[in-house]
Amino acid sequence: MTDLFDSLKLGDLVIPNRIIMAPLTRMRSRQPGNVPYALNAEYYAQRAGAGLIISEATQISPQGQGYPGTPGIHSAEQVEGWKVVTQAVQARGGRIFLQLWHVGRISHSSLQPDGQRPVAPSALTPSGKTFTADWQQVDFETPRALEAAEIKAILTDYRHACEKAKLAGFDGVEVHGANGYLLDQFLQDGSNKRDDIYGGSIENRARLLLEVVDIATEIWGKGRVGVRLSPYGTFNDMSDSDPVALFTHVLQQLDRRQIAYVHVIEPRATGAGGGEAINAEAPSTAALFCGSFSGTFISAGGYTPESAKAALAVGNADAIAFGRYYISNPDLAERIAKGAPLTPYHRATFYGGDEKGYTDYPFLSEAAA
Ligand SMILES: Cc1cc2nc3c(=O)[nH]c(=O)nc-3n(C[C@H](O)[C@H](O)[C@H](O)COP(=O)(O)O)c2cc1C
Repeated sequence: MTDLFDSLKLGDLVIPNRIIMAPLTRMRSRQPGNVPYALNAEYYAQRAGAGLIISEATQISPQGQGYPGTPGIHSAEQVEGWKVVTQAVQARGGRIFLQLWHVGRISHSSLQPDGQRPVAPSALTPSGKTFTADWQQVDFETPRALEAAEIKAILTDYRHACEKAKLAGFDGVEVHGANGYLLDQFLQDGSNKRDDIYGGSIENRARLLLEVVDIATEIWGKGRVGVRLSPYGTFNDMSDSDPVALFTHVLQQLDRRQIAYVHVIEPRATGAGGGEAINAEAPSTAALFCGSFSGTFISAGGYTPESAKAALAVGNADAIAFGRYYISNPDLAERIAKGAPLTPYHRATFYGGDEKGYTDYPFLSEAAA
């Protein structure tokens, strides 16, 4: 029976345990320029005991940014900043992938180059609120539908971001295809009403994600690329008329590409971790989709140490990603190994600010002292 502390071959890597640090946006990069720096390096290095760290979502271009303070991977300064992070993690024996991000319509003109409207597959306004550049919560704006030439330019931005991630010393990249951001907006028919080669059929809607994956594998090799997906996720006003057909197709296509892993979020964690409620009615996407992908399957969303062990034992996943518990437990893997209690997290310090609620959560050794 597979255990959380069995090692795992993850593409080109062998990771020492199956406890993954989920990607977590914390909006604490140095300003101006959205540059990672020493404080971020300390935070990630504290969590180097994870089998794999997946970085917070990181914009591939200025247009890809959706919230204030999120880091980028498009400037030379950001590459230097990320080097400090990757070296700190690797010096503690850890491994870190960069999550590649373009938010599409989940942005605000105050964050966009020249104050332009956010871009999307189709000019459909998501319901709900977003942040402006100065941290005000406002309604979403109506995005502008991307022209074909602009889609090509976005693919070039992904290429450059992959190259820069390599220069910055990451161990690999995760393509963010989840949670209602640009690639997910293309995948799902609630947000994609295009009538060109990027819209309509499932094959067409999956095209952009797969083109991005092909660029990433060209630069990194297939064993260093993962993809995150969120079937049935409703965060950021997402919906699809036939999620089983759509995501089965996507997973089969990813399977053919033999990438390092897929990382699928369970919809029971409401609001993509933005709320505390657990939706017990939500389908188990690990059970539904793990059969469509023969490689490594990481499952995330609402796991406790106990339910993580159970998911591995029944064979629905190869590894489990923890989000919120990794915010408040830098030594989560050690705590789970020892059956030690977990420190509760404080939602008020999730986004923005300084070391409070970021690098000051206690280690087991300190808690016992
Ligand atoms: C503060 C916060 C930030 C998040 N940022 C990201 C992100 O940058 N990229 C992403 O794919 N998911 C993000 N998520 C979703 C988490 O990775 C994870 O899927 C979710 O929290 C459910 O897992 P959990 O129940 O273990 O927290 C975030 C969630 C939270 C709570």
